Amino acid sequence: MTSSKQAIVRCQATPLSGVVTVPGDKSISHRAVMLAALAEGASTIRNWLPAGDTLATLDIVRALGVAVEVDKRTSHSWDLRVEGRGLHGLRKPGGPLDCRNAGTAIRLLAGIMSGQHFPSVLDGSEQLRKRPMGRVTEPLRLLGADIKSEEGRAPLTIRPAALHGIEYKMNVASAQVKSSILLAGLYTDDAMRVYQPGPARDHTERLLMAMGTIISPSQDGWVTLGDAPPGGRRLLPLNMTVPGDFSSAAFPMVAAAIVPGSQITIRQVGVNGTRIGLLEMLRSMGADITISNQQVTGGELIADLTVTYSALQASDVGGPTVVKAIDELPVWAVAATQASGSSTVRDAAELRVKEVDRIAVLAEELRRMGVAMDEHDDGFTIHGLTPLQGNTVDSHDDHRLGMALAVAGLAAEGTTIVNDAACMADSFPGFVETMQRLGASIEWAATS
Ligand code: S3P
Repeated sequence: MTSSKQAIVRCQATPLSGVVTVPGDKSISHRAVMLAALAEGASTIRNWLPAGDTLATLDIVRALGVAVEVDKRTSHSWDLRVEGRGLHGLRKPGGPLDCRNAGTAIRLLAGIMSGQHFPSVLDGSEQLRKRPMGRVTEPLRLLGADIKSEEGRAPLTIRPAALHGIEYKMNVASAQVKSSILLAGLYTDDAMRVYQPGPARDHTERLLMAMGTIISPSQDGWVTLGDAPPGGRRLLPLNMTVPGDFSSAAFPMVAAAIVPGSQITIRQVGVNGTRIGLLEMLRSMGADITISNQQVTGGELIADLTVTYSALQASDVGGPTVVKAIDELPVWAVAATQASGSSTVRDAAELRVKEVDRIAVLAEELRRMGVAMDEHDDGFTIHGLTPLQGNTVDSHDDHRLGMALAVAGLAAEGTTIVNDAACMADSFPGFVETMQRLGASIEWAATS
């Protein structure tokens, strides 16, 4: 990759073909390194994702006194050996902990840092400072946490406090909020119950279970962390392989689904049921996707996904499927531009508080490519089928928006330039190179 902030996507309507893997799952990579730091003993984490967001978490864990040995197997897949210090063994950091652009890092760490015997400050980029933190600080305060923030935004200043179990009903189906509460729950003696109004991803629960914690997965929406055992809570070390990130696989999947003549296979992708809403949505539009070689690794289901181009029809989406596809809606919108008829997504107001307001920014950029798109408070409508026109567009420093626009560029007539594209590496280092391996006409170019 060049150090440039600009990528040029040339689209010659080349069919995509071949077999690739995508880097490790971002959500699992954040959680695995955080939890391994709190385990008693050394954990091994293979295929860990070295992306902008997860590297922020790795640096923070090190700043908390945790030794991590890294084997950089490839630039997109690292193996880590993390010397866990136990739940109470972290060390006071020398300064504020910089979560950069990573919402998952700051919200999950808010839970962990609330239980420490030393004070800490969690901060991040200007972009992160705009995102709502009240959704974690409010429940954490109910647990007894001492957290200060200005208008519910980062920086978060956390002081030592005694925590106790609570029963908490989330009003948004957020895995980050659920995880933050459960992680703070590791510092309570009594049980913790969290209600999720939709199927938020459950990687924290799965990892905690693998580490010997008694946790019962969602029953009627309630997730329960049991009482501490006699002698206190302890986490066993991890020995795991991180599955390929379904959210990264989403980009080549949609590209193959909309570029005529394509057929690709993406190997060893995590297909946890709380993550694959996009697969259901694309299939209901008529996409040809087959799942093979299913296996379980580290408590997570993985599979190979083969996508073959076929004509798409419009389809509406709302409710629980949206929760399972929340990060994929920008690239799903690109698929909807190539479906005949109007496709509407509802119940997706959360898109407005992601890295950027993904509804407004997606509409602004897709319109530059000739798309007819209406905005709703909680979603949008795309009027297909639109012949996409290449143009200069901008990621707004949002990795998923940048990659969704690049995929649109691969189906467009003429050349598309995605400005400010370095952020793609926040979740998918090697995105451009992976698409090149599939025969896509896409390349990095220097900023003029
Ligand atoms: C994530 C949860 C989701 C998702 C984000 C990663 C996680 O956010 O959008 O990219 O790792 O827990 P919310 O929990 O806020 O919906």
